[in-house]
Amino acid sequence: MTTFTETRPTTDTLTITEAIETRRSIRKYVQEPMNQDDLHEILRLASLAPSAWNAQTWRFAVVQSPEIKEQLKAAAYGQGQITSAPAVIVVYSDMEDTLNTVEETAHPGMGEEGRTGARKTFEGAFGAQDVAQRGQWGLSQANIAFGFLMLAARGKGYDTVPMLGFNPQAVKELLGLPEHVQFAGLLPIGKRAEEGFPHHRHSVERITKFY
Ligand SMILES: Cc1cc2nc3c(=O)[nH]c(=O)nc-3n(C[C@H](O)[C@H](O)[C@H](O)COP(=O)(O)O)c2cc1C
Repeated sequence: MTTFTETRPTTDTLTITEAIETRRSIRKYVQEPMNQDDLHEILRLASLAPSAWNAQTWRFAVVQSPEIKEQLKAAAYGQGQITSAPAVIVVYSDMEDTLNTVEETAHPGMGEEGRTGARKTFEGAFGAQDVAQRGQWGLSQANIAFGFLMLAARGKGYDTVPMLGFNPQAVKELLGLPEHVQFAGLLPIGKRAEEGFPHHRHSVERITKFY
């Protein structure tokens, strides 16, 4: 079992441009623990992501236990970045929790009227949909926070690799998550111990039409 000692918070802070330019998938990490203040701050920054009606459907499960990471790795077909990283952030959407607690996301400035209005809006939009269908909408919101999370991590000097290569059912069972949740992805996070690959992307011209 790997044992870790606590590290000091990072003093690194990159601009948004630097964070985007220097983010790349990293699959080998320095064997030191994730600073817990940095981890909390990265999660807080990600939670500032926007969402339709401010629904904030995203939820995070942070795995730092070496034993649980081993099991998570098995659920991810043995991908080694999971146990190499000091922490893995599991990002998922819980649309049912969102609907059950919709008053929490109505802005306080809108008062009681805002809270009852929010419930009406959500019931009108999603009441007739089945759990899987509205779960898909919830996931589209959680994906925004997933993107914010990667850049927040990089902005604080950390590296990550987004992952969808895992068995969702196995991860739900391992973490005790409800059946209806949908995954944005797993995000191993830590300090890079490899260079990774430079960006290889379409040009703006290839992917854009200007009108
Ligand atoms: C949604 C998503 C799922 C991914 N799943 C995996 C994965 O399961 N395993 C892996 O090694 N990389 C995974 N990747 C990483 C991609 O291969 C990588 O982002 C892409 O090749 C671009 O490289 P870069 O991240 O270094 O810029 C995933 C990326 C995204 C965005």
